[in-house]
Amino acid sequence: MARVLTGVQSTGVPHLGNLLGAIIPAIELSKDTKNESYLFIADLHSLTQIKDADQLKDNTYATAAAWLACGLDHTNTVFYRQSDVPEVTELMWYLLSYFPFSRLSLAHSFKDKQETIAEVNGGLFTYPMLMAADILLYDADIVPVGKDQLQHIEMTRDVASRFNSKMGDTFIIPKEQIQKQTMLIPGTDGHKMSKSRNNIIDIFLPEKKLRKQIMAIKTESLALEDSKNPDTCNVFNLYKLLASDQKVGEMRDKYVAGGYGFGHAKQELFEEILKSFEVQRSKYFSLMENKDEIDQILSEGSLKARNTASNVLKRVRAKLGYL
Ligand code: TRP
Repeated sequence: MARVLTGVQSTGVPHLGNLLGAIIPAIELSKDTKNESYLFIADLHSLTQIKDADQLKDNTYATAAAWLACGLDHTNTVFYRQSDVPEVTELMWYLLSYFPFSRLSLAHSFKDKQETIAEVNGGLFTYPMLMAADILLYDADIVPVGKDQLQHIEMTRDVASRFNSKMGDTFIIPKEQIQKQTMLIPGTDGHKMSKSRNNIIDIFLPEKKLRKQIMAIKTESLALEDSKNPDTCNVFNLYKLLASDQKVGEMRDKYVAGGYGFGHAKQELFEEILKSFEVQRSKYFSLMENKDEIDQILSEGSLKARNTASNVLKRVRAKLGYL
């Protein structure tokens, strides 16, 4: 039995990119009874960006509601809030002490922010070791992540191997699992969909606002009658991720034939999104009206998670000379 573990940052309401790239594949994987699943909301990681307590809390609810709405079965999965298992910060300290500063300074999560170095806090710099602790604390075998997280998994393997070779076998060396066809979800500007780029599609918005976001997708300026290249069009590329092969083929033909405008394609994409996520949207709205239910589910999960965490941590403490 493999233990599969993944987390999502709770920096806001999960968007289409989070859903297709991480949440849905993780849930699919968790349905495989060969595997045991740990899924958590990385609200400690969020602190590197969010300093408003209400916002931090709301984001956690929104993230939890999104996962549950997407079909996460919390009875078959250990579903928890990262901050409910503070043991992870203890393990992070141990790992930091085994990981070279020079390697840490190569992390993309930090390097990408170097032009704005004045805004980089120490939490952001050590982010990869908190993530390594998230994984190693639970003896995870497989970590489903987006391609952008690959380096973090490599660092996790690196620090685990360094520790194991100095102190004797302690940690399981995890492997990433990158979802192939959903590796890169384009945002409304064609770049990878991410909150920080402000190019997201919020599938949990009320209909009117959702439609407005979709209508704002960037397209070329071509006349209605012109033939259009579907493969370079953000609208088509998003549609492709959701619609059936047949519908995608039909839209492709319409692009090439001409007489079909980007506005038409956007409307079809909007309808496809509403249809694809109808069940999820209504479940999400109902959970957000019922936050006690979310709290109850997360606290059950954290009890299970803490149980595993304290066993692993005991093993680590013993190796370090603290027990
Ligand atoms: N850093 C990940 C992201 O931004 C979220 C994350 C935190 C995570 N801890 C993790 C993912 C552990 C997998 C395993 O997507």
